[in-house]
Amino acid sequence: MARLAARHPSARIVTRDLAADPPPYVDEARAIAMLMPAEQRGAHEEAALACSETLIGELEASDLLVISTPMHNYSVPAPLKAWIDHVVRIRRTFRSTPEGKVGMLHDRPTLVVTAAGGFHSTEPARQPDYLTPYLRAILATIGIHDVAFHNLEGMGRGPEAVARALEGARAWLDEQLPPGF
Ligand SMILES: Cc1cc2nc3c(=O)[nH]c(=O)nc-3n(C[C@H](O)[C@H](O)[C@H](O)COP(=O)(O)O)c2cc1C
Repeated sequence: MARLAARHPSARIVTRDLAADPPPYVDEARAIAMLMPAEQRGAHEEAALACSETLIGELEASDLLVISTPMHNYSVPAPLKAWIDHVVRIRRTFRSTPEGKVGMLHDRPTLVVTAAGGFHSTEPARQPDYLTPYLRAILATIGIHDVAFHNLEGMGRGPEAVARALEGARAWLDEQLPPGF
């Protein structure tokens, strides 16, 4: 984010710290409201969708999306999954068609930085990766296809491994930030 701000001082940066302020889980009331056609919703359902609307509004307004996430138990951490359950919404951010789901959001450059204690994509990879394929699939569902990943691996292997991984990440970010950013 510091690199973005330096390259593009007029950019408006909206930060969602999902770890500090996790979205609520999709409970029964939210699930019912999400699946109900818009014209049948009342005040109760609209209130249940308030958080979802806020998070989707932020996505609709963004020209560039940056996701920074740890791997938890081979997959997305719970707060990021809660965010996904609010922003991936039928008839709002994707449509269901006979050919499959079609995203309704505009595409935009998206950078995903993941951190894992061990290794899952480079040697010695000894664990499955349900994090990066899942994020790619779920972002594509809502129309976000222009996604680049950088995986920080071996973060539990001591300060030298961490320093090496961070150096690689900084170089990658400098390469990836699109022109104009
Ligand atoms: C609940 C939990 C589950 C984790 N699961 C994995 C895992 O499946 N694979 C892995 O390599 N590291 C796992 N880790 C280690 C984290 O991915 C690693 O510490 C990472 O650096 C965390 O990123 P952060 O420092 O940005 O929070 C887990 C850590 C926690 C707390």
